[in-house]
Amino acid sequence: MFRTKRKSNNSNDDKINADRSLIKLRNVFKVYDTPAGRFTALNGVDLNIGTGEFVSIIGKSGSGKTTLINMLTGIDRPTQGEIFIGGTAVHDLNEGQTATWRGTHMGVVFQFFQLLPTLTALENVRLPMDFCNLYTPAERNARAMQLLDLVGIAEYAHKLPNHLAGGQQQRAAIARALANDPPIIATDEPTGNLDSRTAEAVMQLFEDLVKQGKTILMVTHDEDLARRAPRTIVIHDGEIVNEYVAKALPMLSHELLLQATRQLETRTFAPGEPIIVQDAEPDEFFIITSGEAKVYLIEPPGQYEIFMDTIHTGQYFGEMALIHGGKRSATVRAATSVEVIALRQQAFLDLIEQSEETRAELERVAGERRQALAETRNGI
Ligand SMILES: Nc1ncnc2c1ncn2[C@@H]1O[C@H](COP(=O)(O)OP(=O)(O)O)[C@@H](O)[C@H]1O
Ligand SMILES: [Mg+2]
Repeated sequence: MFRTKRKSNNSNDDKINADRSLIKLRNVFKVYDTPAGRFTALNGVDLNIGTGEFVSIIGKSGSGKTTLINMLTGIDRPTQGEIFIGGTAVHDLNEGQTATWRGTHMGVVFQFFQLLPTLTALENVRLPMDFCNLYTPAERNARAMQLLDLVGIAEYAHKLPNHLAGGQQQRAAIARALANDPPIIATDEPTGNLDSRTAEAVMQLFEDLVKQGKTILMVTHDEDLARRAPRTIVIHDGEIVNEYVAKALPMLSHELLLQATRQLETRTFAPGEPIIVQDAEPDEFFIITSGEAKVYLIEPPGQYEIFMDTIHTGQYFGEMALIHGGKRSATVRAATSVEVIALRQQAFLDLIEQSEETRAELERVAGERRQALAETRNGI
């Protein structure tokens, strides 16, 4: 019926209005001074992440993923902007404070494992506990052993890293990241150096940790891996793409997603207020970012309102007249308080002109919707 086929992932929609205040980035900039001049690697990033979320961060090489994760972990500092994690102003900590804070609040897993080569797997896992002076010395060994068991390599506890396979080293690195039971795990291309089977095992480990309540941020350039996380952040040229646009129009390239993001306007509507009016000239394309709207066919003109469908958070509308030409073919009214993002007609048309796949998908949806309206009209 009157519905987009590509519905956004419901499990994530449930979280759309959830409390996302565990991690807050506010207008974060990172500018590198290079011999060639100043280079802006992060360009005004805003981001909120909640407790228990599993978030993948995706972008092509050089888009700013590592820079972003380094800001979050306090490994590097923003040139400008604020980073709050669990109430701590991470951007205000000095180096020593950052190290202590990270030791208990954030487990970090890198692409190249970064185990200390002269220490056994067990000693590597013990290290964060020693550093933060958590647990008694006797407890530390037992705990390190438990963690190595959890990641499935207890039998290699007394081996040096270079006697372990890559996947085993990464498991040891994950055990080390869990040593002080931090609420957040941040990881940069954790499977980038692993074969696909080992990568799969590492992903399952992350999924188990999320089930146990950990919050995980995973940088990757692999779109398939990224999809394993219920929420994906796309970064391009140091800017974060609007998540609703990325989900509603998944065939757009990262570059076009960012182009759309820069042209979005946010609007709000009170319950009952019309967003689109049948027979008006079209001027915008909409995606609902909060609440729901209802579609009505007015037939005969000016008389009866026939309910057609509900449009939920994450879904788009307003494409029909922009694609097919002519006037608005139905009225859309806010059913609750509604927030939408809107793209003006020209911005919308520019976008679909540059993405044949997106145009085809929108035409398909618009065609189905037109069909449903025609059938309803004929059935009266
Ligand atoms: N220390 C640095 N000095 C100068 N430029 C840097 C530095 N680190 C990263 N960059 C530049 O910032 C951009 C983003 O880099 P990075 O965050 O590593 O991207 P990604 O991890 O997405 O590949 C790249 O163009 C990179 O060359
Ligand atoms: Mg990187």
